Amino acid sequence: MVEKSEKVKEAERFSLLARDIDNSEDLAPMMEDIVNKIEVQEIPKPKKEKKTKQDINNPTSIYLKDYVGSGAGLGELSYKKLEAVGVTTIYDILIRGSNEVKAYTDMEDARLHNLIQICKKVLENSKRTRNPKLSISELRKYKKNMTKIPSGCIELDDMLGGGVELEALTEVYGAFASGKTQFAYSILVEAMFRNGWKVVWIDCEDTFDPDRLHQIIKARGYGLDKTEDELSDYIDSHLSYIHTPNTDMVVEEVNILSRKLVEDESIKLLILDGAIGQFREEYLGRGTLASRQQNLAKFIGILKNSAYFFNIAVLFTNQVGTDPAKMYGDPTYAVGGNIVGHGSTYRLYFQKRGKKRFATAIDSPKQAVFDVEFALNEKGVDNP
Ligand SMILES: Nc1ncnc2c1ncn2[C@@H]1O[C@H](COP(=O)(O)OP(=O)(O)O)[C@@H](O)[C@H]1O
Ligand SMILES: [Mg+2]
Repeated sequence: MVEKSEKVKEAERFSLLARDIDNSEDLAPMMEDIVNKIEVQEIPKPKKEKKTKQDINNPTSIYLKDYVGSGAGLGELSYKKLEAVGVTTIYDILIRGSNEVKAYTDMEDARLHNLIQICKKVLENSKRTRNPKLSISELRKYKKNMTKIPSGCIELDDMLGGGVELEALTEVYGAFASGKTQFAYSILVEAMFRNGWKVVWIDCEDTFDPDRLHQIIKARGYGLDKTEDELSDYIDSHLSYIHTPNTDMVVEEVNILSRKLVEDESIKLLILDGAIGQFREEYLGRGTLASRQQNLAKFIGILKNSAYFFNIAVLFTNQVGTDPAKMYGDPTYAVGGNIVGHGSTYRLYFQKRGKKRFATAIDSPKQAVFDVEFALNEKGVDNP
């Protein structure tokens, strides 16, 4: 029996009242009928939302909300705090690391340890992240079969072992107009049209030129079977572009990136054009090198972890500074110091010498340092 609401009770009172009035004999049965109908239509109380409780010995869900109150060590309050800073999946926990999670939630070490163990267990069953315990021969095979993103310049791609690599950070640094953004466009176009992947492009310098993108696509022979509208639709559905005019915004974008990556497994490439330079410019005024490096380290760490856990390629461009004390050799250096340098898996240094352009592989895990020449034309980067 559903509990009678105030409205029903009132209708009943009215029905009795109507019966009392001599000339409303006909009204009484009608009112009773209405009352019965109201009772039938009474809205049942909403059922409590059913929670998917996870078996913490064999966890499968990537969503942290499924672990609240499951014995995993994650309480409602801690979850709310994490949710507020965009940490909602096991990937976020692993990408941000225990120190950051502790800073947000003040969780006890034992509980945090427990939670991280569960995240690792979920990961072992995940098809997305490379199994961290592959044998060396398995790892070799895995790396060999990994799809690369070629730039279109053969020697440049050879230098990268076939192109821009998944699960790695590729940095391109060089002076203004050395070809960094052109290289990034070229990689973007190949990822979208050759590999059919989706791409996120974070533009920190506001230099993205959609007309130039269309030019490179057509010059490379892609999208020729499409009308202009179809081509635009294809680009819009494969490229998520974000302009971030300051470091706060770029950091926020990178922090919430995991949500996009969780939802869409076809995103395989992240490009950041100009992010490190933005840190340099903004922190110059603040006069705090230590805090800049600390934030930069965190930023690079998140990029590196995202590349690994989500199996994506991360490509970023970087500016150069000049060391006035260096008397011999090339006085140019990449901005961001060792934190950026050691974070990158591949570093390419682009240079214009006279009319020619050269790329030098620095710190490459595969090759000793050497130079290759490349050209810039309507195709983006090309063979010289
Ligand atoms: N359509 C084009 N044809 C030939 N060269 C081009 C074309 N568009 C741009 N470039 C070359 O690219 C250079 C700019 O390179 P870019 O990658 O944007 O520089 P940055 O290293 O500052 O990102 C220009 O100076 C020009 O030489
Ligand atoms: Mg540029």
